[in-house]
Amino acid sequence: MAEAYAAVLEKLTKSSIEHDYDPRRRFAWPDGLDADEWLMPPELMSVHDTPLAGSLDRRTLKALSKWELVNFFSLTLHGERELLMVISRHIHTDGFEAPSDFFHRFIEEENNHIWFFSEFCRRYGKIYPDSTVSVASEDLRPGLGILLSFLRILIFEEIGDHFNIRMGSDARLPSIVRALNRAHHGDESRHIAAGRQIARRLHALLGRLSPEEESAFLEQLKEYVSFTLQSFYNPQMYSDAGIRDAYGFRRELLLQPGRRKQHGVFLGRSLAFLRSSGMVLRPDALY
Ligand SMILES: [Fe+2]
Ligand SMILES: [Fe+2]
Repeated sequence: MAEAYAAVLEKLTKSSIEHDYDPRRRFAWPDGLDADEWLMPPELMSVHDTPLAGSLDRRTLKALSKWELVNFFSLTLHGERELLMVISRHIHTDGFEAPSDFFHRFIEEENNHIWFFSEFCRRYGKIYPDSTVSVASEDLRPGLGILLSFLRILIFEEIGDHFNIRMGSDARLPSIVRALNRAHHGDESRHIAAGRQIARRLHALLGRLSPEEESAFLEQLKEYVSFTLQSFYNPQMYSDAGIRDAYGFRRELLLQPGRRKQHGVFLGRSLAFLRSSGMVLRPDALY
């Protein structure tokens, strides 16, 4: 089992080296973006599947699509700053011998992602302040806390990847938006594959959880999922799109049944993994 684990990580490291690129040369940055273009596809926007989408005129909806993309890139880069801290804490420490070489590539790639997402935000909008929550966990026994941190990273990356996959091939979007999403998806598919291996391994080494540990673990995971989903409803982006009462608008959206349905779609792959790995028996209760 340990050999198979190390072999998968070695293969992912090799693949990462083969797909190496220089982010500062890879992208062609246009001078500006057309206000009439979709930047976030309407189906991925926070108003989708709700009557509130119909209450916005076309110009506001297009403006919101821009600020939703800026928010998505901002929360991605802030989340990546956080997860780099977790990976840096564990690289070359006991128990992380097998993934350490992969972690070097991971750190390099996430540093690149933070650069290109911040570049987009600064060129065409701004970087929204950090509203993400820490992926670190302190009050559980060490093995369980580490598993929780890695599961949070995995869920964060899988939600982001859901967006990257769709935006990478959406012909309505400007080519720079497609290119950034495609590049990110290429790297993240390896991070997700490694993350699943690492989470399974940490879970297998954990032994039996007491009922108290089990419920603290589920509660903290649920809290993280809920905070992460809510960060897609940044009031600042509604206000930047010209929507009055941005906080009221946000509150209204979060009550919509269509949004719960969409959250289930964003989390689809993570929930299937948690169920099939036996880590969470009722993953639907997490969101
Ligand atoms: Fe990334
Ligand atoms: Fe990643």
